[in-house]
Amino acid sequence: MSPTTEVSQIYDTILILDFGSQYTHLIARRIRELGVYCELLACTTKLSEIKFKPKGLILSGSPYSVYDHDAPHMDPAYWSLDIPKLGICYGLQEIAHTRGGQVLPCDKREYGHAEISVQASDSKLFAGLPAKLKVWMSHGDQLAKVPSGFRAVANTSTSPFTAIDCEAERIYGIQFHPEVTHTPLGSQLLKNFVIGICNASSNWTMSDFIEKEIQRIRNIVGPTAQVVGAVSGGVDSTIAAKLMSMAIGDRFHAILVDNGVMRLNECQDTKMILEEKLKINLTVAQASDLFLGRLKGITDPESKRKIIGNTFIEVFESEAHRIEQEVEHQGKGKIEFLLQGTLYPDVIESISFKGPSATIKTHHNVGGLLDDMKLKLIEPLRELFKDEVRALGKVLEIDDELVWRHPFPGPGIAIRILGEVTPSQVAIARQADYIYIDEIKKAGLYRKISQAYAALLPVRSVGVMGDKRTYEQVIALRAVETRDFMTADWFEFPYDVLKRISSRIINEVQGVNRVVYDVSSKPPATIEWE
Ligand code: XMP
Repeated sequence: MSPTTEVSQIYDTILILDFGSQYTHLIARRIRELGVYCELLACTTKLSEIKFKPKGLILSGSPYSVYDHDAPHMDPAYWSLDIPKLGICYGLQEIAHTRGGQVLPCDKREYGHAEISVQASDSKLFAGLPAKLKVWMSHGDQLAKVPSGFRAVANTSTSPFTAIDCEAERIYGIQFHPEVTHTPLGSQLLKNFVIGICNASSNWTMSDFIEKEIQRIRNIVGPTAQVVGAVSGGVDSTIAAKLMSMAIGDRFHAILVDNGVMRLNECQDTKMILEEKLKINLTVAQASDLFLGRLKGITDPESKRKIIGNTFIEVFESEAHRIEQEVEHQGKGKIEFLLQGTLYPDVIESISFKGPSATIKTHHNVGGLLDDMKLKLIEPLRELFKDEVRALGKVLEIDDELVWRHPFPGPGIAIRILGEVTPSQVAIARQADYIYIDEIKKAGLYRKISQAYAALLPVRSVGVMGDKRTYEQVIALRAVETRDFMTADWFEFPYDVLKRISSRIINEVQGVNRVVYDVSSKPPATIEWE
């Protein structure tokens, strides 16, 4: 994967070197919110590997101490780049350590809220900010001596050098974290740096992005090549597909695979939106029977995932080959590209510097698509965070309903039907899920919840219906609130909403006589039941 992208050659770009802090991606988020484009690269990236000239450089925090024998250090070549540099936490210590200052362990680790006093009233970094500032700290080391040429700009009661600068070389360092919301004026400070000091243009808007991205796609694809891509009805694949079709029209071929484990009416609804509303050149591959046939008798969750993933590749490839023959027969260009809706967090995840506290994440995405067709990847959303994709969707006038859709796993409701996936189990799970989401929407709670679904449990319990004893299945409702899906809290429903959901599911879904609500957080539970 190339560490740089062409977008950074089009927009003024702030480069963030990641030393492994858990907050680094937030620096990128805050800067993008200022309308300034930025990219995050591992701190081990050499200057010679970068194909653009950044307007400014930010060194992130890190779980390391600069004096650790295995501590990461920046390629010294960056020092000769005549651009402003800002060190945050470890970044400040890296500046001090390299430039002849002194970094020592604190008597006591400083963690949490703190108040700093800005003593240098002419500081460009703190311009317009009050002399006393609430900030968030998280560090075990601090500056004991300022490097030569630098001055102290701010302090706390325990540390004389909470911020330093060297105006002659435009180098700045702060011990606290401006990127977290616990530093209320942190965005203003970052704005002072990226716009005030680096002079970066604030032109990163989604309407501007669309225009430039369409041009970029046209340049990459050229006048005749064809592109294929899988769509699911989810926000990322739909928006990526819309951009492709705006750029190259029917030379983009979207493929929707009906795997038999999508939600109620999902395949028809997606087809209608993509084809009729968004005018995307779409093929639906009906493969429900194939998928359900292969899932027969399978109860192990990982086996279900494998079967669905592999069958998906098979169906998609065969559809792509069919399209390829068709377009070749018509004398049109060859299929040369595969569209993928990769987002920036996945890119960050794959290129970030992994410090000792690196988060453990399992990857769910299907790999290996079209290896034999030797297609080149095209990823129009690769530089975007999820909220930027949503903003893009709004500019493209895509329905709010789709733009704000909860994520849905590739293996669909197959991993929400515990035990064997049969057509009758699919019908029960689909209906219960439909009612659940419908009531959530009616209660105006859909956007408050990050993800919600109904799981069908492989147990039966006793109930009564009229004067008859029943022995039927259980639906477990799951709803979570989360920012990143790595940790999640269960959602606190008002009781009346739960009551309506439960009563509708039990009355309307045949085969279910009990509904339970899952009150487990992640960790230790996961969001999906399988
Ligand atoms: P867990 O269950 O790991 O889920 O807490 C975190 C997020 O990942 C989604 N998920 C999947 N997505 N294929 C996918 O495309 C999968 O196999 C898969 N398993 C979990 C889950 O829906 C949640 O958003």
